Amino acid sequence: METIDRKNILLVDDHKPFRDSLTKILSGEGWQIFGANDGEEALEILRREIIHLILTDLKMPKMDGVELLKVAKTIRAEVEVILITGYGTVDTAVTAMKDGAFDYIQKPFKPREILKLVRKALEKQALVVENRMLQEKIKDFQRFDKIIGSSPAMKKVLEIVAQVAPSSATVLIQGESGTGKEVMAQAIHDMSPRVNKPFIKVSCAALPETLLEAELFGYERGAFTGAIARKEGRFELADGGTLFLDEIGEVSPTVQVKLLRVLQEGEFERLGGTKTIKADVRLVAATNVNLLEAVEKREFREDLFSRLNVITLNLPPLREREEDVPLLAYHFLEVFKIKNKKNIEGFKKEAMDVMLQYHWPRNVRQLENAIERAVVLARGESIIPEDLPPEILKAVFAEEENQGIILDDKRISIRLGTPMEEIERQVIEGTLKFSKGDKNIASKILGISSRTIYRKIEGEKEEKSKDEGEVIEGQGDELPK
Ligand SMILES: Nc1ncnc2c1ncn2[C@@H]1O[C@H](COP(=O)(O)OP(=O)(O)OP(=O)(O)O)[C@@H](O)[C@H]1O
Ligand SMILES: [Mg+2]
Repeated sequence: METIDRKNILLVDDHKPFRDSLTKILSGEGWQIFGANDGEEALEILRREIIHLILTDLKMPKMDGVELLKVAKTIRAEVEVILITGYGTVDTAVTAMKDGAFDYIQKPFKPREILKLVRKALEKQALVVENRMLQEKIKDFQRFDKIIGSSPAMKKVLEIVAQVAPSSATVLIQGESGTGKEVMAQAIHDMSPRVNKPFIKVSCAALPETLLEAELFGYERGAFTGAIARKEGRFELADGGTLFLDEIGEVSPTVQVKLLRVLQEGEFERLGGTKTIKADVRLVAATNVNLLEAVEKREFREDLFSRLNVITLNLPPLREREEDVPLLAYHFLEVFKIKNKKNIEGFKKEAMDVMLQYHWPRNVRQLENAIERAVVLARGESIIPEDLPPEILKAVFAEEENQGIILDDKRISIRLGTPMEEIERQVIEGTLKFSKGDKNIASKILGISSRTIYRKIEGEKEEKSKDEGEVIEGQGDELPK
């Protein structure tokens, strides 16, 4: 995440004492300040240095603040500009907002006021830059069209895809719900020489056995009640292209046998028909159940499995590719802000932190839904934690609560706000573990008597059990009769 520390600010004002005092206030915050006496000098600096924010007086000789604003934006599109106005020029400043000024501030102002405004402008600037950087990263993956991901795990998958897509090899895609199995199947088709032929999808779980058979292989007139005309199956429709069999793990044994034959011989008959039909189809199958386990449980034919399992893509769950969360979040932000006609620059750091911490059980689809909701709800220029679904906030918050103290072998990490008593107890218990329960050694390490250790640990246990007794009783009394 971009932060607003270490940013460069260009201060333009022809009144040196004013410039000096403002420089003092701003550099106190750690920002580097460049000073310019007029617009021309300002532009010179702007061309030379990476400037994040310009604070400029409105009325100046040679070039006024509005003109400077316009030129500056052409030199450095992502620079933010705050106009400083004197009495009587507020109207001009208000108009300048349309030319892309971040805001204006009227002289005289208090240090607190200017600092607040500068911080806000720098935060926005950081968001814009971050957004652009991510957009560029996303472009790197444009050859995969709609697939976003630059985590090592996804890169590996995409490499395999790029390698196998041009062939006609059968591909088995495994992954939890919402990990992108379908987008991956589509990408394989799009990157293959079959791209101009059909991509046909069949959801195997959605149909009962006979219907699925009819759907896959087609039927002749009169094959079953209601078959009033001959119908081509999906295998025929996909001829020359790709057939995507979604949720292949749900296919019944009968259909499994028929699929095996198509895979082995590339031929089949329509239901109720005798004519053997050949189809040139590339098969991509997906499953969110572990097919190998299904084979072991004899729910799935081993021979069919090995025919499908020529090339296997294992899509990692989103929680195992944290790096992709910001990329995906910004990608979906772009999609939904256009759809909802909203002007949102990005995510507040706190919101991104929540998204990075969450475990996303329903993976990319869940993230996509969360962002859509956030875009609809957002009232500001960036998405804040409160815009995210409550179940996500709750889960992350609950996790944080439990992490008051994190223990490993020889270290503990303590969140601010953890009660002293809790800290003492954890340190003592940790040390006792280290001393293999020897209170004497522990007391030497900690520099307290072993009696104190006993009192803090054992005594506390007694106290606690007493306490708990009381609490339970108390609650019982409070229950409505
Ligand atoms: N890498 C990705 N880049 C961009 N969008 C993605 C990516 N992965 C998934 N998505 C999006 O997430 C949603 C879920 O993806 P998809 O339908 O492919 O998942 P799935 O694994 O088939 O899920 P299910 O098992 O529930 O059918 C889709 O809207 C898809 O566009
Ligand atoms: Mg799917």
